[in-house]
Amino acid sequence: MSEEVFKKVVSHCKEYGFVFTSSEIYDNGLGAVYDYGQNGVELKNNLRQYWWKFMVQMHDNIVGLDAAIFMHPKTWKASGHIDGFSDPMIDNKDSKKRYRADNLLEDKIAKYQKDGKTNKADELQNALDAALLANDLAQLKTLIEQHEIACPISGTRNWTDVRQFNLMFSTEMGAMAEDADKIYLRPETAQGIFVNFLNVQKSGRMKIPFGIAQTGKAFRNEIIARQFIMRMREFEQMEMQFFVRPGTQKQWFEYWKEARLKWHLALGFDKANYRYHDHVKLAHYADAAVDIEFDFPFGFKEVEGIHSRTDFDLKSHQDLSGKKMQYFDADLDENGKPYGNYIPYVIETSIGLDRLFLYTLCASYNEEEVGEGDKKDTRVVLALPPILAPYKVAIFPLTKKDGLPEVARKIIDDLKFDYNCFYEEKDAIGKRYRRQDALGTPFCITVDHESIENQTVTIRHRDSMLQERIPIAEIKSILDKAISWKDILSK
Ligand code: GAP
Repeated sequence: MSEEVFKKVVSHCKEYGFVFTSSEIYDNGLGAVYDYGQNGVELKNNLRQYWWKFMVQMHDNIVGLDAAIFMHPKTWKASGHIDGFSDPMIDNKDSKKRYRADNLLEDKIAKYQKDGKTNKADELQNALDAALLANDLAQLKTLIEQHEIACPISGTRNWTDVRQFNLMFSTEMGAMAEDADKIYLRPETAQGIFVNFLNVQKSGRMKIPFGIAQTGKAFRNEIIARQFIMRMREFEQMEMQFFVRPGTQKQWFEYWKEARLKWHLALGFDKANYRYHDHVKLAHYADAAVDIEFDFPFGFKEVEGIHSRTDFDLKSHQDLSGKKMQYFDADLDENGKPYGNYIPYVIETSIGLDRLFLYTLCASYNEEEVGEGDKKDTRVVLALPPILAPYKVAIFPLTKKDGLPEVARKIIDDLKFDYNCFYEEKDAIGKRYRRQDALGTPFCITVDHESIENQTVTIRHRDSMLQERIPIAEIKSILDKAISWKDILSK
């Protein structure tokens, strides 16, 4: 059932201009790269704005940044991405397909569990954990052979050795090939914040604790790209680094863990869709980490990570660049002495905008039975929070003549400074309503002959489908009441 719903959401995205496969006209498009269509870009912008308003506008100790995608290559040496940002890969020599070795083993564990072979599943899980911890690639291959794992395509067990495959995309910068420098497309936005830590702190006279937030594209050469926009090679992150006094990181980690979940819940979707997933195995730079997971049609998956990153990044940049990354803290400690100079600790919140977009669509997508008797019908409605909907209001003249389009256009001219409006004069009104339901438009306004006589229109509510007659002069105040950032940001 869930798989079925997911397929419907994916085709809805294409049919209604939310998401298209990149350069689809060529060989069905580029793998794991997607374009946002005319309605998708509006929803995505609104989701980004929701994040930005909450993080930057609602916190006077958090400021924004827009760092470049290209960064000095040493950045990625310091961050550990050149040496450590890789997955263990194995190729099948017959199908020529490449797999993540750990994924092949995880699939086998899931199969053992499904078949009730719990002991075998546990045994393999322990062996896999040990091999990953020790970075023992030969042992990963041995496990694949011992457990007789075959390529799902060729069905053979003709495997290459397991090799590490770095996930960063690279290109060259410079006019001449011979003196060009290899540079990388950033695999996370966070490093742009770290290298600008002192620029922002000094120019903004920021006092610890404070945060720097940014949204932007990140690139990863994901081998296993699946589930639509869940795992892409070009995607967008919304990250915030919160700089704190060493020793206070646990308390701030708890603060952001709670604050971020609250932000998700304010979208108004069922609470049961969300859960925390604590990391047991921590990255080398972290002293605590938790994911916020959402229950997608294909199961609970990570949407956001909250990481206590210690002073790892700032310290590494200080060591490699030779530039001090210290902050002078004039506040007094319990002995009445200033805390003095230190490298701040960092709590990071990192959410994927595309995954947020995907869960928003999955949670909003509804098929409802409407009407009775021979008027029975199914409508697809996106029950989006009104403030996030691509269009806030659609205006329909009942017919294309008798001055009705002019009245409709005049209404749009009054509303368009505050609201994204949709105009349509083709097709029966019922059909036009259905199209707006499928886009998630919270209100439709119909202009008819009575509108000319007494300056009233019909307003139709997306969720209840209720229709009421209201004066044209009241449209704006009705929208203002129903659509506001305050509703969602003050929850
Ligand atoms: N700076 C920390 C960091 O990048 P991450 O867990 O690798 O952490 C953070 O990524 C978030 O970015 C994830 O929770 C996910 O929402 C999103 N993300 C990561 N890889 C992605 C991909 N290939 N496609 C779409 N979103 C991705």
